[in-house]
Amino acid sequence: MRKTLYWFQTLILYVVVPVHHAFSSWELMINNNNSNNSIKRNQIRSTHKHRKENRLILLDASSSSGSGISQTPTSSSSSCSSSDKTSLKYYSFDGWNLSYRTIESHASDDDKNKNKNGKASSPAADHKILLIHPVGVGLASWFWGPFLNCINDDRDQNNKNDENIKTMETKKTHSYYAPNLIGCGISEGSDAWDPDKRGLFIPLGWVRGCEAFMNHIDDRGLAPIGILLADRNPKQVRRLVLTSPPTWEDITTAVPENELERNYNFLRSPILGKLAFLLLESRKAIEFFSNQFLFSDKCDNEWLDKTEQESGVDARPPVQVFNAGMCMNRGLQSELMTLKQSTLIIQGEDDKRQRQEYSQNMKHCQLVTLPGQNVVSWEYPKAMANHLENWIEYNN
Ligand SMILES: *[C@@H]1O[C@H](CO)[C@@H](O)[C@H](O)[C@H]1NC(C)=O
Ligand SMILES: *[C@@H]1O[C@H](CO)[C@@H](O)[C@H](O)[C@H]1NC(C)=O
Ligand SMILES: *[C@@H]1O[C@H](CO)[C@@H](O)[C@H](O)[C@H]1NC(C)=O
Repeated sequence: MRKTLYWFQTLILYVVVPVHHAFSSWELMINNNNSNNSIKRNQIRSTHKHRKENRLILLDASSSSGSGISQTPTSSSSSCSSSDKTSLKYYSFDGWNLSYRTIESHASDDDKNKNKNGKASSPAADHKILLIHPVGVGLASWFWGPFLNCINDDRDQNNKNDENIKTMETKKTHSYYAPNLIGCGISEGSDAWDPDKRGLFIPLGWVRGCEAFMNHIDDRGLAPIGILLADRNPKQVRRLVLTSPPTWEDITTAVPENELERNYNFLRSPILGKLAFLLLESRKAIEFFSNQFLFSDKCDNEWLDKTEQESGVDARPPVQVFNAGMCMNRGLQSELMTLKQSTLIIQGEDDKRQRQEYSQNMKHCQLVTLPGQNVVSWEYPKAMANHLENWIEYNN
């Protein structure tokens, strides 16, 4: 019984505070090949290499656009257009068919530009920004939808306003991409990951998927992606933004291997693990935990609809490895303390966790508090979009 309680605690902790462990050090190989009848334990092979890997960039969530009708008063004042202008595209990496979300290109605006300026197309983006979604029950690239729509609205407004044309020409344009991590985004067309069939290093496999994505988008590409991505790719990644990351202590402390194994075996266990997921995937549970730990106000229906769509047996493996703590199979202190990139930490004002140690211990790190709790980019996408664009501008 105590064990069960313990498991639920772990589960809740991570499910609810999904973000950040998302990229840490990925040296654990997850592969459960049970081709024998014997009841094999799930295998977690650690390579113990402790190579310096990278990590994240970050951004977590925001918003409540989309549904228009069901918004709470607060969110409607802080959110952007109610129609979703993001689109899903695909790329492949190492045999995986993976999807990513981005803003529809402004084809008509491009035409306008062409007529007015005689230019063939809009200016190339100055920066490419990679948005890494949190991992947890029902989460995928849709998490960034409202934030992307805010960015899109700003552009529309600027484009419509002639007075702003000059500003637009000098103002940097950035491209935003929200790739689905391997095994996530099944409801968005990505391949599911079945650890019984194919192994994956966690978190390295996810980082590599993002690296492949960056190359897919543009070989000169760059974007803030995460401590690991930043650390591994100092030339490509110029800045890092972490939204609602774990506390300094949590991100610099490894989860012991026996604990990882215990957690993972529990989450994959046919009875208790399954039961836990069935409970956590219910709309009521998601609503409860979201209200409790993620939102300042009540979560909106779109949030619930999206998590519901993305929940299910096929979507569990990434959540299982993440919740087991695999991304934190070692602490990230050395990466964090030596990162060369400017780093911005965004946290919600209702989030009680202290994060000053990031700015105390890192070389170029700034901490900012915006409205919201743990999903600032979903609940207050506009505040987040404005702040981010300004920060990029200032730290150029
Ligand atoms: C299954 O287990 C048996 C004995 O434990 C071993 O000899 C055999 O090689 C295993 N088969 C596979 C496919 O792993
Ligand atoms: C990837 O999956 C999407 C959605 O299922 C599909 O439309 C696309 O053709 C696939 N791409 C490849 C290369 O298989
Ligand atoms: C599982 O293990 C067996 C024996 O070790 C191997 O032949 C088989 O290819 C493995 N299956 C997968 C999906 O890795």
